[in-house]
Amino acid sequence: MTIATRRTAFTRTRRTRRTEAMRGLVRETRLDPAQFVYPMFITHGTDVRTPIESMPGQYQLSVDQMAREAGELAALGVRAVLLFGIPAYKDAEGTEAYADDGIVQQAVRELKRVDPALIVIVDVCLCEYTDHGHCGVLTAEGEVDNDASVPLHARTAVAAARAGADIIAPSDMMDGRVGAIREALDDAGFTSTPVMAYSAKYASAFYGPFREAAGSTPQFGDRRGYQMDPANAREARREVDADIEESADFVMVKPALPYLDIIRDIRERTDLPLAAYNVSGEYAMVKAAAANGWLDERRVVMETLTAIARAGADIIITYHAKDAARWIREDRA
Ligand code: PBG
Repeated sequence: MTIATRRTAFTRTRRTRRTEAMRGLVRETRLDPAQFVYPMFITHGTDVRTPIESMPGQYQLSVDQMAREAGELAALGVRAVLLFGIPAYKDAEGTEAYADDGIVQQAVRELKRVDPALIVIVDVCLCEYTDHGHCGVLTAEGEVDNDASVPLHARTAVAAARAGADIIAPSDMMDGRVGAIREALDDAGFTSTPVMAYSAKYASAFYGPFREAAGSTPQFGDRRGYQMDPANAREARREVDADIEESADFVMVKPALPYLDIIRDIRERTDLPLAAYNVSGEYAMVKAAAANGWLDERRVVMETLTAIARAGADIIITYHAKDAARWIREDRA
């Protein structure tokens, strides 16, 4: 239509935005509780439910308390959890990570008992289990020893699979760990257990609250020697390519909101399922602002999760999973 015949500047996009039904008709991104993964922190003992101060609404849970959460998650349609363990003891080699009676192995067995259909993902890393708080073992000089650490991550993966884990998610960022874990799982007979690689994991200040929750702050130095520099985007492609080459079944970008460009870029690079981790610091910011009445929590959370999905993530790992699932249900009703 030529401009001369137009009676209004009112555009097509305005015409299709007028009612909620019309907006629903043209909506390009929809959230579904089935795409959420809910992270949980598991601790020894019974009847333990310790609030995590910097993550309001999140707790360190004993195995019995965690099992109760499973029922709530099922009712909400959230079908996957990601487990982190808080060990009874820490040592230089992080031995509880791969012990058969380690806290995560106990938790996996209990979850699979109470809800066999629940997808139990185990985060494989040594930082919660080592006394120095690094993600691998150290050399005599105090550096993280890549090649000595990888076999321990592989052992941890097998221990988790043996307990019944459905997906193994290495978050340590050692080189070669995805291939080593695949081989170890196959050798142990777990040929059908997939690996979700934390591929583009940045050395981020947004992990602060998690380290309080999991007691995994490095006792010296930082993680910049093995996690990615926030300034780098091309390097994320190399990390993802390497993990795919080593046969990762899922790849991940972490954190999520400050790295939407990376999510989009990796989405265009691979057709594998892509997960994004909406991390503890992202959660803490929203909760703090909402507690002050500065932001509308529900709207901010839904907008954030929608943006992460719109950027290209299939799967969103988020502490907001239960609330968001509830809100999605309310919106649909
Ligand atoms: C373990 C691990 C971390 C997170 C997930 N797995 C912490 C870290 O790398 O320091 C962070 C999750 C979050 O902040 O929510 N390596």
